[in-house]
Amino acid sequence: MDPHSSSDLAQPDLYVVKKKHPLAIRWFHWINFPVIFTMVWSGLLIFWANSSRPGYARVTLFGHPVFPKSFYQPSVPSWWPKWLPHDTETVNNQPKLFLYSLKYRLAEGMYWHFFFFWFFAINGLLYISYLILSGEWRKIVPQKKSLALSIKVVLHDLRILKKEPEKDGIYNHAQRLAYTGIILIGILMIISGVAIYKPTQASWLTALLGGYVMAKWIHFWATMLICAFFVVHVFQVIKTGWANFRSMITGHDIEKVAVTSNSRESEGAA
Ligand code: HEM
Repeated sequence: MDPHSSSDLAQPDLYVVKKKHPLAIRWFHWINFPVIFTMVWSGLLIFWANSSRPGYARVTLFGHPVFPKSFYQPSVPSWWPKWLPHDTETVNNQPKLFLYSLKYRLAEGMYWHFFFFWFFAINGLLYISYLILSGEWRKIVPQKKSLALSIKVVLHDLRILKKEPEKDGIYNHAQRLAYTGIILIGILMIISGVAIYKPTQASWLTALLGGYVMAKWIHFWATMLICAFFVVHVFQVIKTGWANFRSMITGHDIEKVAVTSNSRESEGAA
């Protein structure tokens, strides 16, 4: 038997590099992440400072505090070196050191919030314009069957359904719903934000949202939805694996292709 006959040689796998996420989408996405982080953080500083109680508001659920007092201002441990970041406050005429403080930071929260708002709005506007002009919106806008199929995606993720539900394009139908939903929530954030930022100049907008208190309520719960999206999104990214994450950075995916004797021959001929 001929030891060099091609049928005896182990056939190496063939891989192709495929374009997946466009450059613009990746830029808009990765700019958005730290911007949203700063918006949520500074928003919480404003929220915690906005209280009839002196200094700060404690988050409550049915009237009970969700976090202990130390969450808002934890003391530094005795071994904490002074050169590491900390917060100092005078308590009973004595300086007291804290790891950080979420109290009394209204002005700081406001200036970060109103500065980063511009990046959030401009980046969002450019992202939506790009989606429309490039036709990329087709990849993320839900279709008629998306609701039914996204339930199947969840059941598949929970391992209740074995067969992976169909997807049209790079995103499954649950992703389509989530990605379009998060854009709508972003728009709602901006509208409700303007309504509570300029309730006099934009009084028509505040009235449209049901008044100042209602606009504040919408703004807060839209933020909570963004946080919920973030937790599920990152969990899905981890679950889907490294290749997908890498593609959101480089724009490319590596795919294994099925090797047939024909493809080998044409490879040899080339
Ligand atoms: C609040 C912050 C975030 C928001 C609002 C967000 C939103 C989105 C949206 C809308 C898309 C679809 C983009 C498109 O094709 O137009 C997307 C994709 C993606 N995001 Fe995020 N994202 C956030 C944070 C993150 C973080 C922290 C990570 C990394 C851990 C991440 C990893 C990814 C990946 C890998 C994809 C591609 C998914 C795929 O191809 O299946 N995202 N994200």
